Amino acid sequence: MFALRRITTNAVKSNSRAAHSLPELPYAYEALEPIISRDIMTLHHTKHHQTYITNLNAAEEKLKAALSKGDVSTAISLEPALRFNGGGHLNHSIFWKNLTPESTEPSEALKKAIECSFGGVQGLKDQLSASSIGVQGSGWGWLGYCPKSSSLKIATCANQDPLQATTGLIPLLGIDVWEHAYYLQYKNVRADYVKAIFEVVNWKDVSERFDKAKSC
Ligand SMILES: [Fe+2]
Repeated sequence: MFALRRITTNAVKSNSRAAHSLPELPYAYEALEPIISRDIMTLHHTKHHQTYITNLNAAEEKLKAALSKGDVSTAISLEPALRFNGGGHLNHSIFWKNLTPESTEPSEALKKAIECSFGGVQGLKDQLSASSIGVQGSGWGWLGYCPKSSSLKIATCANQDPLQATTGLIPLLGIDVWEHAYYLQYKNVRADYVKAIFEVVNWKDVSERFDKAKSC
């Protein structure tokens, strides 16, 4: 009887899970100036990220309704919306924390891994920049941790495809190369934006993600 009550309570809890909501920025909208303007940060966070969340919540509601009716066809048809909007939410939630107005450095452990994979921090910046600038259309450049080889890797993802779900790499540092991330300030020169963004990378956050990824 007790076990049944516990199962029922857990089921109610999981069904009543709160919808996704916009995470607060860990700094002010103007904090990353002059590298990223207040206007870009405000629009990017309150409009673009919020839209992914709104649409993800709507898709999850539809999925819940479809699954409750055993409507597998409708559930499968929701995959593109879940992937795009869920990916947009996951990617941006990492991106805000990957940035900071403070001066930070990679941890000794991360520095060692970067040296091993890219010959040094400058080598990482060069390779990540080249890959990010080379993304055709909209997408992301990533530094990720590969659990299979226990090493750092660079990858790119199209649109809002989330890194881990589509490549198996654990995301450490993402560069959003959608035009909405830079066009108001850098116009069509994506290369200038990518070069500048390293000035505001939160290496402390990247190092913590690296430590966590290694322990998985
Ligand atoms: Fe974005």
